[in-house]
Amino acid sequence: MSKRVVVVGTQWGDEGKGKITDYLANKADVVVRSQGGNNAGHTILFNNKKYALHLIPSGIFNPNIINIMANGMVINPKALIEELNTLKSKGITDFQLYISNRAHVVMPYHIKLDELFEKIKGKNAVGTTKKGIGPAYADKVSRIGIRICDLLNPKTLESKIETSIKFANIYFKSQNMKEFKTKDILDEYIKLGNEIRPFVCDTGLLLNNLIKEDKNILFEGAQGTMLCIDHGTYPYVTSSSPTAASIPLNTGIASKYITDVIGVTKAYTTRVGSGVFPTEFEDETAKTIREVGHEYGTTTKRPRRIGWLDLVVLKHVARINGLTGLCIMLLDVLSGIEYIKICTGYLLDGKEIDYIPADYSEYSKCIPIYEVYPGWKEDITKVKTFDELPENCQNYLKAIEKHLEVNVTIFSVGPDRLQTVTLKKIF
Ligand code: GDP
Ligand code: IMO
Ligand code: MG
Repeated sequence: MSKRVVVVGTQWGDEGKGKITDYLANKADVVVRSQGGNNAGHTILFNNKKYALHLIPSGIFNPNIINIMANGMVINPKALIEELNTLKSKGITDFQLYISNRAHVVMPYHIKLDELFEKIKGKNAVGTTKKGIGPAYADKVSRIGIRICDLLNPKTLESKIETSIKFANIYFKSQNMKEFKTKDILDEYIKLGNEIRPFVCDTGLLLNNLIKEDKNILFEGAQGTMLCIDHGTYPYVTSSSPTAASIPLNTGIASKYITDVIGVTKAYTTRVGSGVFPTEFEDETAKTIREVGHEYGTTTKRPRRIGWLDLVVLKHVARINGLTGLCIMLLDVLSGIEYIKICTGYLLDGKEIDYIPADYSEYSKCIPIYEVYPGWKEDITKVKTFDELPENCQNYLKAIEKHLEVNVTIFSVGPDRLQTVTLKKIF
């Protein structure tokens, strides 16, 4: 019986979704990216080679896998071509890639708008990746966006860009910035359309046919549920929904086809960009975690903020996504830490709560309540089974399972594909 498995980030992104997708892709026939754009950065390591993917699905390394960039994505065609060229330069030339004709295009003025909005927000800036993601999604819902199918149609592209640019220029003009002109970018975008044309199709149709053919399908989430436009720490979020619920809409399949939802969770927590982060701490232990875990952004190289595991966050995320299993990542990074904390609730104005307040100012006031677990000293990077883990590490994993009522199906003890232990088979 085939499966359609969603890989979802359970924190604020960078949980190791790329690694797990690549690992599970071994048993899959299809890998789909459904939302976001090149704000994502997914790192994959095998055969001593490291790859960073931003737009392209993590099944790209296996020539037998069909990789799909679905309609919910916002795609910067220049960044896409660069990414393909980087892969080619590393010897990845044999692959299958399909791009939705309904996906939206990140245009150069979206990037400028992203920078401008952040500047105007001043101290309230989101800390975006400045890849133009928010403005591209804003144009989508304002019904002035450019879609991939538009890039392929030179007859109508000019008037579409003209309309879209008119709106963008309202902002640029107001700030005495250089305005965009359609004629300056039209030819370039027609050319980019021609370059990606061989990959473009109706991926919704394709996916539904693949479901009929009983294929195993992996949906590779980008970002994390706490960055969800609806369920995250608004307004410090991204502009799409990375939840399991978003998959049908963003790919064109019916929700009944999803069989499993796997939450990818760091053994601690990180966040890049601004926004509330109750379990954040900055001391020698945090510095050690940052260095051992190489906690610097794949996309922007920014140092990631470090915090303890937050079960209030994970419960919120497990509920929203209907998690059927958990992958605990970067467990090795905690080796050598004397005491490890897990946040099990918050104090809000002296009252204990176990949910995430919608009001950002209330959430900012929340003080974490911790359970403290003794750590372990042993190097676990070569562990192959649960029983080989030090007892304190086993207890840490068991505590997470008990609190969340979700089983750990995989744990990861290093960045390499081989440093992955499966407790319950997914495919
Ligand atoms: P994604 O955005 O969710 O795909 O995650 P990123 O790739 O941005 O960040 C995860 C980082 O952790 C990457 O540098 C991975 O190579 C690395 N990584 C993944 N799993 C492990 C692990 O179990 N141990 C260690 N030490 N690093 C890991
Ligand atoms: P992956 O897929 C971590 C964060 C940004 C910022 C906020 C909004 O690698 O987990 P945006 O550019 O999307 O408008 O920025 O969201 N952000 C991520 N943080 N991992 C990501 O992706 C992210 N994508 C966006 O840092 O706080
Ligand atoms: Mg990342």
